[in-house]
Amino acid sequence: MLILESVALAFAFLMSLFTFMRLFSRHSNRQTTAKNNSADVLGWEKLDQLLDMLSTLQEEGVSYSGLVSREDFGKAVLKASCRLMNCERGSIMLWEESGGHLKIVAAIPETGKPQTLFLKPGEGIAGEAFSKAQTIFIEDPSSDPRYLSSQNHAHPFLSMPLLIQSKPIGVLNLHATGNAAPFKDHNAKFLKILASEAAITFHNLELFERLETFYLEMVKTLARAVDSKDHYTHEHSDRASSRAKRLAKALDLDPVYARYVEYAALLHDIGKIGIDEAILNKPGKLTAEEYEEMKKHPLIGHQILAPVKFLGPVAQMVLHHQEWYDGRGYPSGLKGEKIPLGSRIVAVIDAWDAMTSDRPYRKALGREKAIAELQKGAGTQFDPAVVAAFLKIEAEEGLAFK
Ligand SMILES: [Fe+2]
Repeated sequence: MLILESVALAFAFLMSLFTFMRLFSRHSNRQTTAKNNSADVLGWEKLDQLLDMLSTLQEEGVSYSGLVSREDFGKAVLKASCRLMNCERGSIMLWEESGGHLKIVAAIPETGKPQTLFLKPGEGIAGEAFSKAQTIFIEDPSSDPRYLSSQNHAHPFLSMPLLIQSKPIGVLNLHATGNAAPFKDHNAKFLKILASEAAITFHNLELFERLETFYLEMVKTLARAVDSKDHYTHEHSDRASSRAKRLAKALDLDPVYARYVEYAALLHDIGKIGIDEAILNKPGKLTAEEYEEMKKHPLIGHQILAPVKFLGPVAQMVLHHQEWYDGRGYPSGLKGEKIPLGSRIVAVIDAWDAMTSDRPYRKALGREKAIAELQKGAGTQFDPAVVAAFLKIEAEEGLAFK
């Protein structure tokens, strides 16, 4: 995370520089005229405002990279920009390499409808600001043929590129309204500082996303390797993952936590990669010794996932997916709410999958029998609330809900 750390350092430096400038200015202001003083106070107030916004954006974006979406961060940037410029309308468009166009990621006021405006470089005012990497300001958009919005707006419009080392990654568009601050004076300079901070964070979010996708693809490959090693649980991981997604939604979990649960369901048996294939595929009951060996898989899974920082909560869920609600499970004998909720969800999904799949020593249990088994285990092996949520979806969507 060298990039994130250096951005945080650069930001800290910028903040201390501003603080120094502010103190110095207050000292020197004592010797200026009353008229100049009032103008300076306004300017420094604006700077104070900008600093507050920058630190909020920094907290939103840099400190929580990976947890904040580009859409949410875009909204925060727009709110800060509009507060700075006293305007009420604007949008952020980011470059999408796959589509070869600029796409709106955030807009205010929110319409609630999906954004359908895509601009090629050079197209419209925003497309031109992007391709030329220059801010474009127009007094009267309605009389400018480059202005492509379906609505006719007579208010001044500004399109500012979001630059990373002089290379545009998107644009910030703002519409002035009745009492908007003039776009051309020092406000626009402050806006430029805000836009450059936003650009860095958008860039970091993208890097983080790529890194996350890379790690995830890597562990998914591992999970599939486990599935192919264990003949009887083929495609088990993918199935478990899609059920977990559905169940997390039904339990109204926070989206970030829900994503961890989905990953935990996908990766819960990844530790089986360290278990002897002869034990995994043994047609029949395991001996006590073999069972002890098999019981190591949550711990091995945890060891595989724990070094991947963003999978930290997933590693915990994997470690405890074989715990029992009444404390009789393994490896730690955790009880009730002490077991991570994600592990309790995975436990139910895993048991359902095991019961409804064929095994070499028995045929799959029928739907009714599997439901009865889950109900029987609610409160002992399983969290009753998770069982209830699972069975509710099962009743609504049937055996193969995915
Ligand atoms: Fe397991």
